[in-house]
Amino acid sequence: MRKRNMIQTLPLAGTLLLSAAAVQAEDVEVLHWWTSGGEAAALNVLKDDLGTKGVGWQDMPVAGGGGGNAMTVLRARVTSGNPPTAVQMLGFDIQDWAAEEVVANLNSVAEAEGWNEVVPTALQRFAKYDGKWVSAPVNVHSTNWIWANKKLLDEVGAKQPENWDELISALDKLKAAGYIPLAHGGQAWQDATIFDGVVLTTGGIDFYRKAMVDLDPEALSSDTMLKVFDRMTQLRGYVDKNFPGRDWNLASAMVIENKAGMQIMGDWAKGEFLKAGLKPNEDFLCFRMPGTQGMVTFNSDQFVMFDVGESKAQDEMAKAIMAPAFQSAFNVVKGSVPARTDVSNADFDACGQKGMADLAEANKNDTLVGSMAHGHAAPAAVKNAVYDVVTNHFNGGMDSQQATKALVSAVQDAI
Ligand code: GAL
Repeated sequence: MRKRNMIQTLPLAGTLLLSAAAVQAEDVEVLHWWTSGGEAAALNVLKDDLGTKGVGWQDMPVAGGGGGNAMTVLRARVTSGNPPTAVQMLGFDIQDWAAEEVVANLNSVAEAEGWNEVVPTALQRFAKYDGKWVSAPVNVHSTNWIWANKKLLDEVGAKQPENWDELISALDKLKAAGYIPLAHGGQAWQDATIFDGVVLTTGGIDFYRKAMVDLDPEALSSDTMLKVFDRMTQLRGYVDKNFPGRDWNLASAMVIENKAGMQIMGDWAKGEFLKAGLKPNEDFLCFRMPGTQGMVTFNSDQFVMFDVGESKAQDEMAKAIMAPAFQSAFNVVKGSVPARTDVSNADFDACGQKGMADLAEANKNDTLVGSMAHGHAAPAAVKNAVYDVVTNHFNGGMDSQQATKALVSAVQDAI
């Protein structure tokens, strides 16, 4: 039975008058974690688009990058039998919720709109469960990016780094000139976002796959992993002392405001730079974590539709999200790239066009891997186990050798 958005009727003087809710079409209640300036701007593109289709928006924001807090709130809502209509979600979480049989089946919209033909297989692997479409992918982000302040790099005589040593040399130059070399927020998911890139640049694509996707104990306990942790310690030496607990968008602001040289962060960071009126290649640079050129650690935000009974608004929302023009308009603002293969890159800036080209190339060369930090390499239990070790080590709670050991056992326990 449909639980929400029913047309209400008011008896008055023998007639039935439709309430305000009836003149408007149905609403969707959307649970998401897009609360930063850039994220909110992108969300407005979706809200406005739905508005033109007569679908109202009930906002359910749960702040917290990476979505950990949002997932906790979602669990409470579903447990109390009152799921939101649509929920922003990442990778393995989608599969976990689908397995609980609380999500809607979008196959009729997907078939009518031809999603099977245009959504990359890497995304379908998460959007479909048991042959059924359960979510609509709105974007593809990737985590192995660096966002740099061009003016500061020029001023200290640092060029765009192509490999690890050049990255360290650029960070040293920024430090010597009195700038904060690396803008970072000490939250587990942010530490893990850096870790994605360090694993990839240190071990390459095969190592990343073995360690982060296959969870191979040999790879997890290898000398390469030891080196990864040593490099995390090295990076820790370039963040300021106020980093604990800082939100990611405040770290972006440090680069935007000429206080810090760079931020290692997924391409949602671009949304903050654009919101501040900065231009790629003029004011800021976007480049892959040095040593990971040609490889992509991706994550895709998808809207999972929960089972709220037959819902026209849900179908409308799913359809709207997948429309090519919307995918362009939304992702231009969000910093991500379209979740379908047939969208023109004409409206994207240089970073967005690079993101699209990198994704297509990585897909072709089999160098496209899911982000561990953002739920596309392993299920939440494993992801959280990795978070714990990475963040404990980053904060000096253990040395690299202890961290390597702890990683193997934490992952084993979580599987
Ligand atoms: C990611 C999500 C992005 C962005 C980021 C920071 O997990 O995929 O869309 O919102 O968190 O909040």
